[in-house]
Amino acid sequence: MRILLMALLLTWGPSAWASNIPDSDSPGGKLFATHCSACHTLPSPKRLDWPHWRHMLGLMKQRMDERSVTEPSKEEWRQISGYLKAHAR
Ligand code: HEC
Repeated sequence: MRILLMALLLTWGPSAWASNIPDSDSPGGKLFATHCSACHTLPSPKRLDWPHWRHMLGLMKQRMDERSVTEPSKEEWRQISGYLKAHAR
């Protein structure tokens, strides 16, 4: 049961969230939605201010390396950063 629930959350969570973020059709918004929902539901950009996002992105990069999850390219990181900077709290 718990596994079923997890599967449902993993399937529906990210897509349900993606429509709730601002500018979800922009390139940065799309990259954010794709890369940042691989391991957990997509966090709202309003959750943190930019200095905290910057710190968090470094941490997430580390998590991706640890788990061999495909990392965004350098250019994609730049776009995700720009997106979060624009929409941070
Ligand atoms: C490889 C898996 C993975 C990916 C991909 C990933 N994260 Fe995470 N994230 C984690 C883990 C694991 C945690 C739990 C905290 C920790 O271990 O650092 C976490 C925690 C978080 C938190 C804190 C949640 C809270 O409850 O406060 C935020 C915010 C976050 N991630 C944002 C992001 C963003 C933004 C991206 C995209 C750049 C991203 N994550 C991509 C694994 C991932």
